[in-house]
Amino acid sequence: MSGTAAPGPGIVLVDRPVPSRLPEAPHGTPGHPLPIVIDCDPGHDDAVAILLALARPDLRVLGISTVAGNAVLERTTETALRVLALAGRADVEVAAGAAHPLEGPLHTAPHVHGESGIEGPALPDPVTAPIGEFAPHAMARWIRAAAEPVVLVPTGPLTNVALLLQEHPEVHDRIAHICLMGGSITEGNITPSAEFNIWVDPEAAQTVFGAGIPLTMIGLDVTHRSIVWEREREALAREGGRVGAVVGGLLAYFQAFHERTYGWAGTPIHDAVAVAHLAMPGLVRTAALDVEIETEGRFTRGRTVVDLRRVTGRTPNAHVGLDIDRERFVALLGEAIRSYA
Ligand code: RIB
Ligand code: CA
Repeated sequence: MSGTAAPGPGIVLVDRPVPSRLPEAPHGTPGHPLPIVIDCDPGHDDAVAILLALARPDLRVLGISTVAGNAVLERTTETALRVLALAGRADVEVAAGAAHPLEGPLHTAPHVHGESGIEGPALPDPVTAPIGEFAPHAMARWIRAAAEPVVLVPTGPLTNVALLLQEHPEVHDRIAHICLMGGSITEGNITPSAEFNIWVDPEAAQTVFGAGIPLTMIGLDVTHRSIVWEREREALAREGGRVGAVVGGLLAYFQAFHERTYGWAGTPIHDAVAVAHLAMPGLVRTAALDVEIETEGRFTRGRTVVDLRRVTGRTPNAHVGLDIDRERFVALLGEAIRSYA
């Protein structure tokens, strides 16, 4: 898929639908918005995911928790605050979380996002500060205070989510679903085997995928098929007011990495797809599959091992993204960004 070539068919399963009792991601309505918590490492695509979520009348962001990943925690936290200032949403709490993975050192991605984690257009100065509460505890408080079970939307390494599940078992049944961006059925992007979010903290991912909470995995197989092409990015930049101009600049920077690495005259917006999946039923085609996390392999640590052909007989623990209606995704994104104009 180079240049502006449309992607070929997504992952093709043998058409042998296997009934699964694993609940699919819920959806909200403008009259009854879905309560969500975004756990992120902004990050160009995390920033767009936050802006998309805040623009949706069918989603209610209870809070934003930040984790080290694309950049160090101080940077990802400051960027989350700047994105909220850009969106005019000083009402949304930001809680800083883990500064490193459960085990081992932190590895960031300056080659993708720049040292700041958000190189490119200037973002407004923060108008708020992070609350003093450690993110896993704030997440538990947001979940307990919600009138109904909450959907977690992790778009970075899963350290905060793992700590939440380990330290607050009392909220497990108040988590309706985990809709995460991470993993891959096929190729990796930080190693040949592993996708970045899972690779940064495989032990945390193992905890999250093994928690028994209904989960949707929006992996690279889907996000690499959700490319926003140059002309579409330019339209976003023209039509979305100040937010559109910033998003256009963020995507231009992000595209440069993908042009160098994949030859694409466009860019995926990985994290925004996890939000879009909650906003638009049927946007992403999924299958209920077993996903295990490799934590030992010399060349494969951080890999999501997806039993695509169901050869293990293990009970599926995730709805895994196979394909996406790219045009509908781009239209949904454009509608959200234009709402800020
Ligand atoms: O591999 C893509 C993921 O890693 C995205 O969430 C991006 O923001 C980085 O965190
Ligand atoms: Ca991210």
